[in-house]
Amino acid sequence: MTTNEQEFARARGAMPGGVNSPVRAFGSVHETPRFFVSASGPYVTDVEGREYVDLVGSWGPAILGHAHPAVVKAVQDAAAHGLGFGASTPGETELAELIAARVTRPSTSSPVERARNERDETPRASEHSSADSVSYRFARSTTGGDHPVERVRLVSTGTEATMTAIRLARGATGRDLVVKFAGHYHGHSDGLLAEAGSGVATLAMPGSAGVPAPIAAQTLVIPYNDLDAVREVFAARGDDIAAVIVEAAPANMGIVPPAHGFNAALADIAHGHGALLILDEVLTGFRVGPAGWYGIDPVPFSPDLVTFGKVVGGGLPLAALGGSAALLELLAPLGPVYQAGTLSGNPLAVAAGRTTLDHLDAAAYARIDAAAATIAEAAASALSEAGVTHVVQRAGNLFSIQFAETPPVDYVTVKAQEAFRYPPFFRSMLAQGVSLPPSVFEAWFVSAAHDDAAVGRIVEALPAAARAAAEATPD
Ligand SMILES: Cc1ncc(COP(=O)(O)O)c(C=O)c1O
Repeated sequence: MTTNEQEFARARGAMPGGVNSPVRAFGSVHETPRFFVSASGPYVTDVEGREYVDLVGSWGPAILGHAHPAVVKAVQDAAAHGLGFGASTPGETELAELIAARVTRPSTSSPVERARNERDETPRASEHSSADSVSYRFARSTTGGDHPVERVRLVSTGTEATMTAIRLARGATGRDLVVKFAGHYHGHSDGLLAEAGSGVATLAMPGSAGVPAPIAAQTLVIPYNDLDAVREVFAARGDDIAAVIVEAAPANMGIVPPAHGFNAALADIAHGHGALLILDEVLTGFRVGPAGWYGIDPVPFSPDLVTFGKVVGGGLPLAALGGSAALLELLAPLGPVYQAGTLSGNPLAVAAGRTTLDHLDAAAYARIDAAAATIAEAAASALSEAGVTHVVQRAGNLFSIQFAETPPVDYVTVKAQEAFRYPPFFRSMLAQGVSLPPSVFEAWFVSAAHDDAAVGRIVEALPAAARAAAEATPD
């Protein structure tokens, strides 16, 4: 048997930083990363044979718990029929239909909201085009509104989904600029790394080397939850903005829920200027509810493109983007916007995704919501008991702790927290057998397999971790 230290030393000789994704290196929590060999339900086991209650959940996909028997069986059955064909399969269509059918919201809108939806549903073409834009103009679908996804393209990663959504928005509008929010993470494509959350935030990087300045200049970064900033950027550059991309409920700078009606106002402003709204549900999609954040945002709104990842692939590499037929059919082979992938719609990933979605019924969401609420409340009371200034922000069943006096609303207020309290908190939890996200800027992922025993182990570990946070001093 090897130790985690030995594995890490060997890995560093083979891979940069010993990892294939930066946050896995445990740098910001000053700890040796655990090398896992197996996982089941809410537990993961490392090379030393030590079991942990897991609150990372493969960064989201393991929503039913690890190695869910039905998902494993579906993947085994698919594998027995061939690992991939690079050709069409019936399963892809079924998954695309399933995604489209789920992304809807009950028609309970108020008369005011209905009036706005009706206005939004009026077909209209983009008024803007430029000399080198494609000849296609986008028209908002008459069947859109409460069903924003009519067509789906399957890809392999969330990064591809958002990157393709942006290319599509540019192709549809004939404009180049994209607006994103500081602290939001949309994957690692060149144009989306500026002031990004997740690992970029964890490493305190402003962006990435290797992104050409002219490409970075196509992205306008503004503060989150600030509609004045949105109005200002559109007033200044509105005719050149192809799209605004937003995390449906931000979870990559810790949880920072949207202000009431923020997404709806964003949609209105973007649409008022002929730009599209790209709703990034890679993290929230099918996690916070059957229709993702779109289905639970208290104020209805109409996104133009929606991106999915993580849960939709059930633990295998699969992601997706969806939108109206008019927009999605601008993609090749029907339209002029090119996108492709050798492994897109891989049958094993499709089987994992379909089976995961099939098992995500009301009972599963009720279990996740209840376990998440218990853990979030226990974390808050342990920190209060230890006298640690904190808030626990929640977005549906997603939550994270922030060492701040008042709830952070954007990247600036997130970064102002006493982040130095997290590493000792994390290390205490790990020593007690609980695997938390190795960064204060990440969400805690609860699964439907987090039963009373698993939740109990987390709750028991929290007081000592809270005391460790209380004793922490700035680095
Ligand atoms: C909101 C959001 N968008 C996009 C991505 C990128 O997805 P992937 O890591 O699959 O490329 C992530 C990943 O964490 C994400 O949280």
